[in-house]
Amino acid sequence: MSTLSSAVTATFDVEKIREDFPVLKQTVHGKPLVYLDSAATAQKPTAVVDAIRRFHEVDCANIHRGVHELSQRSTAAYEETRAKVRRFLHANSSDELIFVRGTTEGINLVTSTWGRKNVQAGDEIVISAMEHHSNIVPWQMLCEERGATLRVIPMNERGELLLEEYEKLLTPRTRMVAVAHVSNALGTINPVRQMIEMAHKAGALTLIDGAQATPHMKVDVQALDADFYAFSGHKVFGPTGIGILYGKRKLLEGMPPYQGGGDMIKVVTFEKTTYNDLPYKFEAGTPNIAGGIGLGAALDYVNKLGLDHIAAWEHSLLEYGTERLSAIPGLRLIGTAREKAGVLSFVMDGIHPHDIGTVLDNLGVAVRTGHHCAQPVMDFFHVPATTRASLAFYNTPAEIDALAAGILKVKEIFA
Ligand code: ALA
Repeated sequence: MSTLSSAVTATFDVEKIREDFPVLKQTVHGKPLVYLDSAATAQKPTAVVDAIRRFHEVDCANIHRGVHELSQRSTAAYEETRAKVRRFLHANSSDELIFVRGTTEGINLVTSTWGRKNVQAGDEIVISAMEHHSNIVPWQMLCEERGATLRVIPMNERGELLLEEYEKLLTPRTRMVAVAHVSNALGTINPVRQMIEMAHKAGALTLIDGAQATPHMKVDVQALDADFYAFSGHKVFGPTGIGILYGKRKLLEGMPPYQGGGDMIKVVTFEKTTYNDLPYKFEAGTPNIAGGIGLGAALDYVNKLGLDHIAAWEHSLLEYGTERLSAIPGLRLIGTAREKAGVLSFVMDGIHPHDIGTVLDNLGVAVRTGHHCAQPVMDFFHVPATTRASLAFYNTPAEIDALAAGILKVKEIFA
């Protein structure tokens, strides 16, 4: 059994970090909780919970609407998050950052506005074989409505996209390439910088689903040259119901609004409405103010730890977990890309993933079982579902050991 390298453990005090996550200090079915489902939703540090509570207890008011003190404070706190997101993604301007409910809404915003305006019959949209349903279905709906065609970049048995096949799919008909930065089902880190460059050469735009990347690695939308980039607050240790769509200013300016209502207008008469400037043009109605403020606190927390340190710690955990799980006879890892983030998806000979998940739960180990909203990935690997352990920086080698021990128990029970 190996342990993590001393270089990594020296720079990352995981036990101290775990103090910031009271939720982790509990027993489940009489066993210490081992939370390995952070790709579904990450746990929230006390700083995030406190920021949300403070908003409700001290500052609660609607934003962009009041001259009174509480409204001014709420507006400032909410807009401060936009400024934090600008730094987090290294966007050129806060105006390029739209608050949405999450990655799914961010993608739907693009298909409904940019897509309806720009995609015509005969055009093509390119996605990949490992997309989450939220980066498949909205494009399918758009293609169906506009008479366009969806093309899919294939992958190999390791769960890596075939770039030479991707190249062939890019034609003058390609309007958009929409791919995951990191696959939620496989953990594959896609070479999105190169893929964006290739798309641009072909004259296509790009949308990157960053839901599974932003918790684990530094993202620089300008260095990537992404046209759109979406992520969810709850996966970066913030609350649910809040997320961000980044879009290049020129593109956002040329897009019609997503929803009509308050805040997205300048002047309304019964004859005509003039829309607000960016980013408010896309933000109709009272938003998730508490969620936005919580997201700001989450980004502060992640920045304090440092994404480079987080990535190094998680990489070591992933290596250790891969080694431990690979040594279990009858276990097959699904997703063995050379570039991977903290996902250990697996199947076991003759044992259904739901049974594995249930036994593990009884041992206090929380994993996700099912198709992970990526049914085409399951079809590709000829499995109905997988068991997925997904890591965050608060996980420990001892928790990997608990997972491995739990899997051995599953084998014993179903032998
Ligand atoms: N997309 C989330 C996951 O992968 C819910 O579990």
